[in-house]
Amino acid sequence: MHDIQKAFDLSGRAAVVTGGASGIGQAIAEVLASAGARVVVGDLNEEGAETVAAGIRDSGGEAVAQSVDIADPDQVEALIQRATVDFGGLHVMCNVAGIPSDGPIAEISESEFDRVTGVNIKGTLFGCQSAMAAMEASGQGGSIINVASGAIDAAVAGYGLYALTKAAVTQLSQTLAVEAGPLGIRVNVIAPGATLTQFTERHLQNPDGTVNEERYDTFVSAMKDMSPIGEVGEALDQAWLVLYLASDASRFCTGQIWRANGGSTIPR
Ligand SMILES: NC(=O)c1ccc[n+]([C@@H]2O[C@H](COP(=O)([O-])OP(=O)(O)OC[C@H]3O[C@@H](n4cnc5c(N)ncnc54)[C@H](O)[C@@H]3O)[C@@H](O)[C@H]2O)c1
Repeated sequence: MHDIQKAFDLSGRAAVVTGGASGIGQAIAEVLASAGARVVVGDLNEEGAETVAAGIRDSGGEAVAQSVDIADPDQVEALIQRATVDFGGLHVMCNVAGIPSDGPIAEISESEFDRVTGVNIKGTLFGCQSAMAAMEASGQGGSIINVASGAIDAAVAGYGLYALTKAAVTQLSQTLAVEAGPLGIRVNVIAPGATLTQFTERHLQNPDGTVNEERYDTFVSAMKDMSPIGEVGEALDQAWLVLYLASDASRFCTGQIWRANGGSTIPR
């Protein structure tokens, strides 16, 4: 028999999660804390990050919140420092924060290109660089998990800018896995399928911000139709995968693209 608890145990390890105030990042922060990690919840939404960290503490876990704009390398460095100062090091870095962008490639303005690449590409790059430096300094290695998207697998009209940022995150992750491997640092990237969060709700809102139930139901059933098992994703589906990648259970896995997507990208 094998000790499952031990294989996935993160007790005594420090984790940073960007985008931790909402959706996939929140689920990752909560699951890593449930596995024993001490978690720094980073987000542009400081109040939301504090709510998530407080929820973890109320449930008996360890977490602190920190405001961060991942597009600013100094703020990202300060986020990593929070883990090393408060929790004595950094073992797991989850670069989750990201933003959508909608519209045809012909209409992408330079300012929109800079805004979206600034967060999705540069923000992830800064997170990788600061985390790698902290992990190297500790001499203990670590696990970096970046977030791409199912958008890397299919060309969908209107998602060009978002998709190219996530393709960049994927290539960044694989090259970094090669460069960081000798330091005992593993780097993996997840490519989530459609996952019900505030990210997906943006198309489905009435002008007053309430969700248009009819459009929402149509969207959800369209997403389910793409999956052979007829499912649409929940944030927790990504968090279980990230727990695996953060833990020693995945010690032999690096530089890979991981797809929890209900099978929606199977070539058919
Ligand atoms: N939801 C999906 O269907 C889906 C699918 C594939 C990939 N993703 C990716 O998953 C990640 C998380 O998405 P989600 O669905 O949980 O969305 P979400 O909107 O629920 O959460 C994103 C979080 O990131 C934070 N954030 C945004 N810009 C930031 C910045 N500059 N600095 C720090 N924090 C910032 C937001 O405040 C928010 O809390 C994103 O990278 C997204 O591209 C989502």
